[in-house]
Amino acid sequence: MKVLTVGGGGREHAAVEAFYRSGAEIYAVMKNANPGIIKRARGYRLIDEKDVQAVCGYAKECKTELAFVGPEAPLEAGLVDALENMGIKCASPTRAAARIETSKTFMRELLRDHKIKGNLGFASFDNAKDAADHIRSVKYDIVVKPVGLTGGKGVKVQGEHLHSFDDIMRYVNEIFDNNIGGAGVIIEEKAVGEEFTQMVFCDGKKISPMPLVQDHKRAYEGDVGPNTGGMGSYTDADHLLPFVTSSERKEALNIVQKIVDALRKEGCTYRGPMYGQFMLTVDGPKIIEINARFGDPEAMNVLPILRTSFTDVCMAMAAGTLTDNIEFENKATVCKYVVPEGYGVRSKAGLPISVDEEQIERCGAAAFYANVDIVNGELVTGTSRAVGVVGMAESIEDAEANCEKALEYVKGEAIFVRHDIGKKELLQRRVDHMKELRSVRR
Ligand code: AMP
Ligand code: GLY
Repeated sequence: MKVLTVGGGGREHAAVEAFYRSGAEIYAVMKNANPGIIKRARGYRLIDEKDVQAVCGYAKECKTELAFVGPEAPLEAGLVDALENMGIKCASPTRAAARIETSKTFMRELLRDHKIKGNLGFASFDNAKDAADHIRSVKYDIVVKPVGLTGGKGVKVQGEHLHSFDDIMRYVNEIFDNNIGGAGVIIEEKAVGEEFTQMVFCDGKKISPMPLVQDHKRAYEGDVGPNTGGMGSYTDADHLLPFVTSSERKEALNIVQKIVDALRKEGCTYRGPMYGQFMLTVDGPKIIEINARFGDPEAMNVLPILRTSFTDVCMAMAAGTLTDNIEFENKATVCKYVVPEGYGVRSKAGLPISVDEEQIERCGAAAFYANVDIVNGELVTGTSRAVGVVGMAESIEDAEANCEKALEYVKGEAIFVRHDIGKKELLQRRVDHMKELRSVRR
């Protein structure tokens, strides 16, 4: 099967490895020269992934039969619509279906209009004055977000990043003045609890769950600092998380199923992986965001332990023939991203970095290349996350230890890692936090 993959990050490298394992012939398009993808691809082209015409031209040239789009920006640019028009099957959503991610207002209104559980208070604005009136009137703490896409970095939370009305309005004005996200501001109710990610495969109607993952959005150890695309993540061997019960997970899956049903009823049937970001609160799981794709880093946790052929799963998503037989190994995984210094604020980019893949494998881990590039034959960092290192084992503790051993074999200047991810202390803090919230409620 000839497969077109779109995107050059860690998530796409993980997808390419999964396609490769299942015997696909891979043709890749990406902005940067990702050596992990290049190694597995029969052909590749370095182009802007949002350049729909150029990507379609390459797909035609390679006679690809199936396409997989990793990042959100090409979905918003209508790449899937164009590929489908050419008769290429796509394991990713159309532009209209991808609005579940590309417009936070669309997502919240869909939940409201279809009476789906897990929504939060929200209101969207196209000017700062109305936003200010609303902010003064609400009784709860809030979160300020640009409505459109910002690569996971546009969210500011009251009590964490914003400490006064003036702070809030400064950020609201900044979004309008700089047109961040390009579609106004959404003010959301702040949910309190612990976050988890439930990703599913979806064929338009049916969903099939992936293991639960917990990502770490804050840049620095101890969950402080600016929001990032995600610094690292873990899964447990039983596919739950230490602070999530199976009935809470079922609730989250019910919500995702209802979203898929609502999208179909709205005339924009959703095919592809769907990503549900939840806050587990004392009132059950609340939706933080829905993404129209795999999460990054989360894809690097789940795809290496996918037992079923990824090519078959993607074909089934595209064709509407998903079954209940998708299997993952019962292994725990811990992923830590090596990122350039200053990431989340102002990255130091363009510096050499080296990855010893063989040694990393010997540690019971795998390396996924992300925002790196090859310049004059040398591997260098970009402004975003550089290399994801994923340890795998029977328990989170062992997977974390494997990840740490493997990290020794990523060397570079001006790089950093959140070493606390997957460590006992941080896991215990999450468990204790949920326990505390639940006991106050009782
Ligand atoms: P997002 O890019 O929407 O995932 O937001 C980034 C991070 O901001 C999330 O992972 C949460 O930690 C936080 N966040 C976003 N929305 C909310 C909300 N409504 N309540 C509490 N925290 C939120
Ligand atoms: N890890 C969060 C995201 O992919 O948006």
